[in-house]
Amino acid sequence: MKRPFRIAVTGAAGSISNSLLFRIASGDMFGKDQPVILQLIERAEAMQALRGVAMELEDCAFPLLHGVRLHDNAEDGFRNVSHALLVGAKPRGKGMERKDLLAENAEIFSRQGKALNDFANPDVKVLVVGNPANTNAMIASRNAPDLSPAQFTAMSRLDHNRAKGILGNHIGVNAGDLTHVAVWGNHSPTQYPDVRNAKAFGEPVMPSLDQKWVEETFIPRVQKRGGEIIEARGLSSAASAAQGAIDHMRDWELGSRDGDFVSMCVFSDGSYGIAKGIVYSFPVRCRYGRYEIVQGLPIDDEARKRMKATEDELLEEKAAIEHLLPKETEAAS
Ligand code: NAD
Ligand code: LMR
Repeated sequence: MKRPFRIAVTGAAGSISNSLLFRIASGDMFGKDQPVILQLIERAEAMQALRGVAMELEDCAFPLLHGVRLHDNAEDGFRNVSHALLVGAKPRGKGMERKDLLAENAEIFSRQGKALNDFANPDVKVLVVGNPANTNAMIASRNAPDLSPAQFTAMSRLDHNRAKGILGNHIGVNAGDLTHVAVWGNHSPTQYPDVRNAKAFGEPVMPSLDQKWVEETFIPRVQKRGGEIIEARGLSSAASAAQGAIDHMRDWELGSRDGDFVSMCVFSDGSYGIAKGIVYSFPVRCRYGRYEIVQGLPIDDEARKRMKATEDELLEEKAAIEHLLPKETEAAS
């Protein structure tokens, strides 16, 4: 029997967690042979609701679930965890952009970064889901000087999955038969969902795609899908966000599919000319619990323009909260 992973989830009584926790506990994230202990973190006002979630987890009698702990603060909640999913944040409502949440969430992610630094396992893997996710991940890392920036990631896997779902539906193949889709940049409407290298059953899809559909329908639809869902549901995406988080953590821990890549928001190391010090979505491959940015993909003028626009937005977000952050270290900049 393997030793249990201790997994912290913030915002554990919220909508995404309502799908996510049950999937983690059933083995969808780390495998059907990996026991888990859930350390659930909520605001004090939501602890009553969180107790209800814990009762439901108990009532599922998951064989892999070896404990559930409830915490109203990050310091206790992150103690000894190997994985931390930072979901809790204020979600946007109709008519708002994700970056409207920047200042409100900066405080939350600064405290959580410090708590991860002081209480989590030194090799903790962190996924930020709460928006604006890329900049929140940057904020958390900057407050965690003893952890490597490489341990902090944000979620663009939902966008990656959206791109596959929408493309697959358009060309009449299953999303699972598509490979080499990439999402570049910010988890925001400036992101660049890139199908120039996409393949269906190993064959390039570009020759059979109408370029006008790609530019005028596909790209804007993926970019604005979050808002479209808020309009339709009155609430932001939840089950699909949980699926993105499952896929992101599973691939990071257990490896991505051979012969393909996935999208993760990670600290830029300067690859493709993207500024260091921002958390940017790149195509990555994962192996042995680590990820590496895929190198050498061809970038034409149109792609370069789109990659730059989303980079500029992240640099603006960074500039807007820089005064709230500890000084940048060599490793991150
Ligand atoms: P929700 O409002 O249903 O739940 C959020 C929960 O977080 C609430 O229960 C709240 O009490 C809790 N919370 C707030 N501040 C907290 C803190 N400091 N510590 C612990 N818990 C805290 O929202 P949701 O639908 O679950 O969405 C959560 C976040 O995820 C939002 O920011 C949303 O915009 C974002 N999101 C991101 C993606 C992505 O692809 N990156 C996708 C969907 C949603
Ligand atoms: C999404 O993409 O669905 C989330 O980021 C929620 C949002 O605010 O769009």
